[in-house]
Amino acid sequence: MRAVIFGASGLLGRSVMRAFGDMTVTGAAFSRTAGALVAVDATSAGAIARLLGRYQPDVVVNCVGERRPAVWAGSPDRAREANVDAARLIAEGARRCRARLVHISSDYVFDGTAPPYRPDSLPNPLNAYGRWKLLASTPCVPPARTRRSCGCPCCTGPCGSRPRRT
Ligand SMILES: NC(=O)c1ccc[n+]([C@@H]2O[C@H](COP(=O)([O-])OP(=O)(O)OC[C@H]3O[C@@H](n4cnc5c(N)ncnc54)[C@H](OP(=O)(O)O)[C@@H]3O)[C@@H](O)[C@H]2O)c1
Repeated sequence: MRAVIFGASGLLGRSVMRAFGDMTVTGAAFSRTAGALVAVDATSAGAIARLLGRYQPDVVVNCVGERRPAVWAGSPDRAREANVDAARLIAEGARRCRARLVHISSDYVFDGTAPPYRPDSLPNPLNAYGRWKLLASTPCVPPARTRRSCGCPCCTGPCGSRPRRT
């Protein structure tokens, strides 16, 4: 099985890369492209198509996102691009190459008043990030049989430093 992981340089993406172990996996990143990671801007449909066309994955995992509140406040357009536009473009790219898509959502789509939350719980985001994550899930959820959207609670671990883009 071949897999392409977008956001492979991030906190979650690095763990996902490790979880794929010995499988044929290609990691894509944006600003932190050390080692074997391939540089791809996931807000570019052309860049996504070139990467997926080259590696022909069976599975695409989208770990791209902008989860830093300082960036939501300071560069909301960029944060929206990373959280919403990239998700839509990656979902479209995966559909075109007939790969199974795993999209990472967030508990921020809920308001926190009635846990525990299930995949069919009603979302009610309280801030821009939650609204972006909710918008991002729309192109990634069923009825398409080959898609999965994972709602993810808080991840912990070494974040590494990421340049702040304006
Ligand atoms: N951390 C949590 O607690 C948590 C909880 C629930 C859900 N999530 C979700 O999980 C996903 C990953 O979160 P994370 O904590 O791993 O974030 P992170 O450590 O900040 O990593 C974000 C990743 O997105 C990539 N990225 C950002 N803009 C990009 C672009 N334009 N093109 C391509 N790649 C781009 C980054 O690449 P570079 O670093 O190379 O620039 C990095 O690999 C996000 O969707 C987030 O909403 C996270």
